[in-house]
Amino acid sequence: MIDFHTHILHGIDDGPQSLEGSLQMARVAVADGTRTMVATPHTPGMGNYRAETVLAHLDELREALKQEHIPLEVLPGSEIFYDANLPARLDDGEYLTCNRGRTVLVECPIHDYLPSGFEQMAFDLQLAGYRVVLAHPERITDVQEDPNVLIPMIERGVLMQLTSQALTGEQGPKMQQLAETLVTHRLVHIIASDAHGPTYRPPKLSSAREIAAGLIGAEAAAALVEDNPGDLVHDRMPANLPVPQEVPRKRRWWVL
Ligand SMILES: [Fe+2]
Repeated sequence: MIDFHTHILHGIDDGPQSLEGSLQMARVAVADGTRTMVATPHTPGMGNYRAETVLAHLDELREALKQEHIPLEVLPGSEIFYDANLPARLDDGEYLTCNRGRTVLVECPIHDYLPSGFEQMAFDLQLAGYRVVLAHPERITDVQEDPNVLIPMIERGVLMQLTSQALTGEQGPKMQQLAETLVTHRLVHIIASDAHGPTYRPPKLSSAREIAAGLIGAEAAAALVEDNPGDLVHDRMPANLPVPQEVPRKRRWWVL
């Protein structure tokens, strides 16, 4: 499997602070069936590290993985906080894209409404030739209130990345119900771990994949953890994406 969203790099992110911590995460990922992972440190993040610093940490991790004979490929990337000026920043080479290609993983403020400029920014990025992946839409208030808000964006080619722990119930029953709804109605294109450590928010995908297979079938579940992220790391738009289905409206979908 390919884990599209992880905080595995040590010392420059809110994941492990030591190289040994990164290696522990790698071992957990490999044991769970992951063979490729994109390192997506928060950007701008702790200390506003520049791309070359992130790449130096990545090289250090890759060397250690080789030394330890851990069969995990780790690719460069970043999780970029929403910023209306993102298209210009990407053109300036300030931020790392997924495997240095034309795909960007964008994070919006969590437990909050989608920024009013997000959709426009996403379309500006697309016009500039980028593919846009929205990180963990399930944590956005609009989506919790009405998952259908994702449909116009999906119809215009924005891809959605669900967190594996949302689907496995480790983030609570309400989040699990929302995650199941997003998967069932084909409002998700990638399941990734958003891992931050070997035990707390670990880099695991297999349980979520199994649950997804029970909801939409094994082939469609495989697309979420293999085919779609695989296409993106090879700088291709995933093919044959499912048509999003409208979620029946509830009076209050997200009951607090
Ligand atoms: Fe993240």
